[in-house]
Amino acid sequence: MSHIDTEEWKAQFYELLENRKSIRKFKKDPVPKELVEKLLAAAMQAPSGKNRQNWRFVIATGEKRDEYLQYSQQSWLGIKDILKERLKPSLYEFTERFFYTLGDAPVVVFCYSVNDESERYHTSVGSVYMAVENLNLACVAEGLGCCTMGAPLEIKDQVNEFTGVTEWPEYKAGELELLCAVVLGWPDHEPPKARRQTDGRITWL
Ligand SMILES: Cc1cc2nc3c(=O)[nH]c(=O)nc-3n(C[C@H](O)[C@H](O)[C@H](O)COP(=O)(O)O)c2cc1C
Repeated sequence: MSHIDTEEWKAQFYELLENRKSIRKFKKDPVPKELVEKLLAAAMQAPSGKNRQNWRFVIATGEKRDEYLQYSQQSWLGIKDILKERLKPSLYEFTERFFYTLGDAPVVVFCYSVNDESERYHTSVGSVYMAVENLNLACVAEGLGCCTMGAPLEIKDQVNEFTGVTEWPEYKAGELELLCAVVLGWPDHEPPKARRQTDGRITWL
């Protein structure tokens, strides 16, 4: 472990965290399958309640990814009205285009949680989100970009049909839940880092 004790290593770690930002525009270049598997291996280094490792990932690339675009477009219809109020027009248009094209991201990772009676619901869900953050950070480490998306939840049932999980025993038992999708690929823009706020976020006792 000595190599991770150095000041340089620490500085690089914090820089990695600061460099993570949502990417919504990608080059069309594919991401090799081995690299996606490496990212998912990093995701699965995450802790999980009772070490149940209750994450499940379903990956769409190529034609399956193209097929998903129609669902992404539908999910937009569920959230566009809220965003119209919140975003300035140029950002609203950019976001609309992102939902229609997924920013040309070549890979979509659907992230599921198995929620069974052996663990509390929020612990199960939280465990999967820890893996999702690892996936985000592994993308940064590899020079890739990604965007975690809750939008597919707008059309959960259709997405579950699309990914085929409706055939899985865990789904049939009512235990499998879609939490988000992560779109990823080689970044084709450099958005500014969204500002972080600390006011009211931390309370010391
Ligand atoms: C659970 C979750 C769901 C999100 N859903 C969406 C989404 O549906 N569409 C989208 O464009 N961004 C989505 N985001 C990205 C956030 O908008 C983004 O993380 C936030 O604005 C902060 O920006 P940053 O990631 O660049 O730091 C989501 C992020 C998280 C963690």
